[in-house]
Amino acid sequence: MQGSKLIHIEFMNELRPIRVVDSFDDFLDDFATEVGGQLTDERCPFGVLLWPSARIVARWLVQEAPWERDVPLKIIELGCGVGFLSCALATLFPNAEIIACDYEARLEPYVNVNAAAWGVSRRVEFRQVDWRQAVPQKWKHQADWVLGADVFYDDSHLKHLPPFARDLLKADGLLTLADPKRFRFGTALDILKNHFTLRRWVEEDCDIEREGIEDFMVSSGVLKQKVSILEFAQRSRS
Ligand SMILES: C[S@@+](CC[C@H](N)C(=O)[O-])C[C@H]1O[C@@H](n2cnc3c(N)ncnc32)[C@H](O)[C@@H]1O
Repeated sequence: MQGSKLIHIEFMNELRPIRVVDSFDDFLDDFATEVGGQLTDERCPFGVLLWPSARIVARWLVQEAPWERDVPLKIIELGCGVGFLSCALATLFPNAEIIACDYEARLEPYVNVNAAAWGVSRRVEFRQVDWRQAVPQKWKHQADWVLGADVFYDDSHLKHLPPFARDLLKADGLLTLADPKRFRFGTALDILKNHFTLRRWVEEDCDIEREGIEDFMVSSGVLKQKVSILEFAQRSRS
């Protein structure tokens, strides 16, 4: 794929290939031109990089998954970016079907090529979905599990993502979110608690390595990061 590069991430004791954008700076320049210079966080396609929260929650789930491995689950990942977490979930849960959603159509080839490289194409399907819109009728309350990694970096996400996730989940469904605790984290948590019951909250350390977005962090002096992993249960829909 033009303008992309392969990085390798350890998952379940193997180094797995993940295709991400090659130069985020060049990519942003092109994107800024495309949107006439109107670059906002709400519209910025940050998902062409792999972010630390996705790696950390995937690693944590190997030991701490809330489901048995062989259960046939319907999983939806919101804001899937290049699809790393979806591929990891498909590997961890061999009977699960995963819908990898993002509003950026340009992420589809990344998700498809990554799912093929991991041998999980049959069970990881990309869908262009915008959580600011209503949940498609046929998806309502169908998911056992909804996940998102690093999906609260604009006020629009705080408002729209929690009710969107709630409308996707079955009555006994779970929502798992991983967040690098930027300044919106506290507000996000309060809003999420209005929609869901918080079951688990753990803090995991992330050693920033030279891969994906982490190049930027290393060069700006950030070497360690805390990632919060939150697990919520659906409130009963009375
Ligand atoms: C910081 S990136 C994280 C990507 C990936 N989860 C990871 O951790 O590597 C946030 C992702 O959310 C997506 N996103 C932002 N707003 C969205 C919206 N309204 N609907 C769907 N996806 C959205 C972006 O396109 C991007 O892929």
